[in-house]
This record gives sequence, C-alpha cells and structure tokens, in this order.
Amino acid sequence: MADQHDGSRVVALVPAAGRGVRLGESMPKAFVPIGGSSMLTLAVDGLIASGVVDHIVIMAPAELIGEAPVLLGIVETTGPVPVSVVSGGAERTDSVRAGIAAALNTPKTVSHFLVHDAARALTPPSLIERVVAELRAGQSAVVPGLPVADTIKTVDAHGDVTGTPDRSVLRAIQTPQGFEAQLLRDAYASGLHATDDAGLVERFGAHVRVIPGDPLAFKITTPLDLHLARTLLAERADAALTTGLPR
Ligand code: C5P
Repeated sequence: MADQHDGSRVVALVPAAGRGVRLGESMPKAFVPIGGSSMLTLAVDGLIASGVVDHIVIMAPAELIGEAPVLLGIVETTGPVPVSVVSGGAERTDSVRAGIAAALNTPKTVSHFLVHDAARALTPPSLIERVVAELRAGQSAVVPGLPVADTIKTVDAHGDVTGTPDRSVLRAIQTPQGFEAQLLRDAYASGLHATDDAGLVERFGAHVRVIPGDPLAFKITTPLDLHLARTLLAERADAALTTGLPR
C-alpha cells in the first residue's frame, strides 16, 4: 500500500452512478455483468490488484446504495483496501464531487485522488500503477491517453465541417485520471465546468501530463463495446483453464 512506504495516501473515486442509456441494458451500466462479475466489481478488482490504492469510494445510483455491496460481492471493509459506497449525482461531475466529500470525511489525510470510470472495467493494474508513479514523481495531474485512429472533424449545428485538427497532436483520454488531492478539491470548488476531471483542472489553470494509455482501458459504452469486453474475458477464462490442465 502506498501509505506504508512514503506517507502518501491514494484514494480511488469510482463513478458508477450512470444510467448507461447508450448500452441499452435494463440495469445501471456499472452493474451489467461481464463474464460473471459486474463492470464495477472488475474495475474495483483492478484498482486493488494495482497495489497502489489505499481506499476506494464508489459512487452508485441512490436506489442501489443499500444493495450495492451485496450485488457487487464487495464488503465495506476496514481491511487493507477499504471500500465505501456513497450516492452519486445527476451528472458525472456531481458523482465525483460526492466522492471527494466522502473521501475527505475520514480522519486520514488524502495525498492523491484517482478518478476511474467503472465502465473501464478491463483496465490493466499496470496502467493504474503508472499513473500513480507519475504522481509520486511530482506531477500534479496525470491522465492516460492513446493516439486517435480516426480523423477528427469539428462540425457546426448543420453538420457542416468547420475544421480538421492535426491528428498527430490528438489523444483519446482514458481513466484513471490522477490528481494531487488539493488540486482536485480546489478545481471542483471553483464552480468551473468541464466534461472530464482533467478538463476541469486545465480550466482551473493547472498543468496536465498525458502518459501512454492502454487499449484495454477502453470505456464500455455501446453494445459492441460490451461484446468485446465479454469476448476478451471469455478468452482469458479459456486460457486460464487451458494452462491449468495437466500436460
Ligand atoms: O456515461 P459515461 O460512460 O460517460 O459515464 C462514465 C462513468 O461515469 C460511468 O462509470 C458512469 O457510471 C459514471 N457516471 C456517474 N454519475 C453520473 C453519470 C455517469 O457516476 N451521473
């Protein structure tokens, strides 16, 4: 754990209160099963497996708060990585704000926050470790990003193209996004708005560093993404079975 060797304390905030309308499933997205576990459980498992997170705060839909720990097979613990479940809000930013408040409502000091979408259920623990390593090396805001494969165009309200940004300088940003705790608190308290946490911190005037992302940290948004995630997990389960067989 982080706080056992350098005094830093990393709290992961997991927004999981979205409806997931684009996914077309009947339950809130984070609770949709993939290979026997929910997306949220897989995301939390990845955070724990990284070995660099000291506390996890899940922001769940209000009506599922009571059931969340059971549904997820998560026990709110006082163990090595305690997991808390709190109510999220109407917008993702409201959910993150609720998570920050819950994390700070404990006697222990928080040095860094990670904000990690439950919908990025297959994020490798190694990516989480790399984000925290950059924070420990002194960066105040760190986000993983991948080069974009498609050409991106800006368009107006009629669908007419207004520009084509140079693709080589674009990055598709993933999570976990990592921040010095005070910076994220101040950015959220500023009243500014942005579509992601790093965007908010940028508007607040802070420097954000992009490190190489990982294709497996893709966000499960559409039925095609869900199919890909389920296929990847089924392949992993098959591989584990095969390697477990006697020769
Ligand atoms: O909808 P989208 O895929 O962008 O959501 C990203 C993450 O934010 C998801 O894990 C979702 O559950 C979470 N979210 C939230 N509260 C909301 C909306 C989204 O925690 N009001």
